[in-house]
Amino acid sequence: RRLVVLVSGSGTNLQALLDEIAATGTEAYGAEIVAVGADREGIEGLARAERAGLPTFVCKVKDHPTREEWDAALAEAVAAHEPDLVVSAGFMKIVGKRFLARFGGRFVNTHPALLPSFPGAHGVRDALAYGAKVTGCTVHFVDDGVDTGPIIAQGVVEVRDEDDESALHERIKEVERRLLVEVVGRLARNGYRIEGRKVVIQ
Ligand code: GRF
Repeated sequence: RRLVVLVSGSGTNLQALLDEIAATGTEAYGAEIVAVGADREGIEGLARAERAGLPTFVCKVKDHPTREEWDAALAEAVAAHEPDLVVSAGFMKIVGKRFLARFGGRFVNTHPALLPSFPGAHGVRDALAYGAKVTGCTVHFVDDGVDTGPIIAQGVVEVRDEDDESALHERIKEVERRLLVEVVGRLARNGYRIEGRKVVIQ
């Protein structure tokens, strides 16, 4: 299976996938990363891809006259690598109709909260501010909402009294990276069906 991974930041989830595939081997893992895309230049996630010798592309909203044209350009850039599965690993843009028309049903996102709680760009901060005692991470298929697609797997992380956002996010990311590696491998090896809100992995 061919994976394209989309990043916007440090890329530690990408790195976890790279490390697992390097350790397990493409055959045994069931997938290889064929390209890494981003919405901005100069991020560690792109540097990690380059160090791994992977093709990269950057698709910036401000390089396009409209959001729809950015969305179409992103879909083209991803499609050029003929992915079976697209993984958003900290990609901080909401894709639109064109992208979903092309990759809906094979576009997975990881979110650092237990959806449907705390969707959006500040899930860790929001859980902390709310006083949640447990939070965690969710790997889900992307649909036309924000963090609303069918849930594939979740991991629970306790919130500690002394936590600030970055400490809690780091602890979530430890669980999230393992969850993403496990889920992507299973989807790639076993195949899956999406039945309404249910994801059935063969
Ligand atoms: C992850 O926790 C992801 O869920 C959130 O941003 C973080 C990205 O981390 N959207 P990294 O870029 O993979 O290190």
